[in-house]
Amino acid sequence: IDAALSAGPLTGRRVLVTSGPTHEPIDPVRYIANRSSGAQGTALAEALRDLGAEVVFVTGPADAPRPTGARVIEVQSARDMLEAVDAALAPDAPAIDAAVFAAAVADWRVASASNSKIKKRPDGTTPALEFAENPDILRTVARRAEGRPGLVVGFAAETDDVIAHATAKRLRKGCDWIVANDVSPATGIMGGTENAVTLISDAGAEEWPRLTKTETARRLAARIAAHLTGPDH
Ligand code: CTP
Ligand code: CA
Repeated sequence: IDAALSAGPLTGRRVLVTSGPTHEPIDPVRYIANRSSGAQGTALAEALRDLGAEVVFVTGPADAPRPTGARVIEVQSARDMLEAVDAALAPDAPAIDAAVFAAAVADWRVASASNSKIKKRPDGTTPALEFAENPDILRTVARRAEGRPGLVVGFAAETDDVIAHATAKRLRKGCDWIVANDVSPATGIMGGTENAVTLISDAGAEEWPRLTKTETARRLAARIAAHLTGPDH
């Protein structure tokens, strides 16, 4: 029964998924982060698993449950996430066929995080935080000369000019597909159970209806399976 359940179009394929927020420490008790429940990433990992894929799931400290049946690698910061992704793509690791970057990576970290708790000051003055830009994990992977997965998919959460920003982002980062969504507060998507995405590839922009995150994940997993097993591959 197990063998029958795991046989699917992605049987024998390996897919990497990043998910969740990253936490960038300010000091041992404080951090900065992006808003991300990790729900879409977990749903995607489960959908890929259900099609038979072996899933490597690199996740920041997300609220969402971890996908069962996946290899789960827990990280905290963007730099930790890049290190875990690099390790999964190392020449001596089993080859990854597709990589999907669903994580909401913090763009900046605190330039010099303090090793001890920053205390309030008696005079009421406030600390100034200096930031450093984090590595762009998706861009690093998409532009690798060697060991680049055959399909690299990014997400783009935007609040305005969604398609224009996401189209430019796809080209800038060098990924094959971008899954764009409008996360402006009026949509109620951030933190909710539904998503409304547009899949952008070199073939153009394809708008999907508003669906549950589970259903969005199933559609995306099916598209990945079609691409990896299709005649153009
Ligand atoms: N991403 C990443 N590493 C980063 C930042 C983003 O891997 N340091 C990935 C995300 O997982 C997502 C895609 O890149 O798949 C787009 O993320 P987004 O934040 O929309 O793009 P940015 O290039 O950071 O642009 P922006 O200024 O709009 O935040
Ligand atoms: Ca960003």
